[in-house]
Amino acid sequence: MKHLISCEQCTRQNLEEIFELTDKIVENPKKYSESLVGNLVSIIFYEPSTRTRLSFESAVQRLGGTIVSTENAKAYSSTAKGETLEDTIKVISGYCDAIVMRHNEDDSSERAVKVSSVPIINAGAGKKEHPTQSLLDLYTIRQQKGRIDNVKLAVLGDLLYGRTIHSLVELISLYDNISVYGLSKKEFALPQKYIDYMKSKNVSYTVCSNFDDIPSDVDVLYHTRTQYERFGGGTGREEFIINKEVLDKFSKETILLHPLPRNEEISTDVDDDPRALFFKQAHNGVPVRMAILLQCLDKME
Ligand code: NCD
Repeated sequence: MKHLISCEQCTRQNLEEIFELTDKIVENPKKYSESLVGNLVSIIFYEPSTRTRLSFESAVQRLGGTIVSTENAKAYSSTAKGETLEDTIKVISGYCDAIVMRHNEDDSSERAVKVSSVPIINAGAGKKEHPTQSLLDLYTIRQQKGRIDNVKLAVLGDLLYGRTIHSLVELISLYDNISVYGLSKKEFALPQKYIDYMKSKNVSYTVCSNFDDIPSDVDVLYHTRTQYERFGGGTGREEFIINKEVLDKFSKETILLHPLPRNEEISTDVDDDPRALFFKQAHNGVPVRMAILLQCLDKME
């Protein structure tokens, strides 16, 4: 039984195994269409989602497995009657072969693992982690750039509450010669613990105060929306909006990613630019999550 709850568990070799399996799934999806026949996966989400939930549901079904799910567990599960997460997981783990869970609390996956008899896959935990998103982000970088080593990555937007940012900077730190640039409003700066972590892995981190501080040959621009739901309210307009004019300051080789959903931080006038790859990135979620499911359920041949 293998859980995937934190980027801390991952090694470069694990990631490579998942990426290689993803490549094989993309090349020959039919070969994997019965890999999870007879397996039931429970998909329980305590927070809203479009991509993560539906791509996991697609992934299970494309592997021949079946699902039981609740899309709003806060309101529609016994959580609304005061049941603890621990009791809910103890019950659900008796119904299925794996649990994919999104929860608003940072330590929810660790709590679930303690009481679960089946693998837990963290599909987003509070503001802390979103490992499966980072796996598909890195897969997209590897697919587009042919490498993850020697990458210059700019992270933008909500670096304080954005779990996709936190997991991405952790996972990319497993690679060699990585430079990360951070551009956000001051009140949404990257927490020091991630800066210290990158430093411990020899990743350079540069705080930027405008687009001109990001090198024009940066490999990846990774923008994110402000996570208003984590601090209860708006703080005004996004300051660093990527539109056609801004994107054109960067190289023809720079790619623009976003975990989605986007708000105003990326204008729709860039959508037809070949460098704007966020929809392709979202579509990569299905084969990457198929590979993750195969690994967690010990079905990697
Ligand atoms: C992200 C999330 O839930 O953290 N969405 C996603 O999973 N693709 C980003 C966000 O909600 O802003």
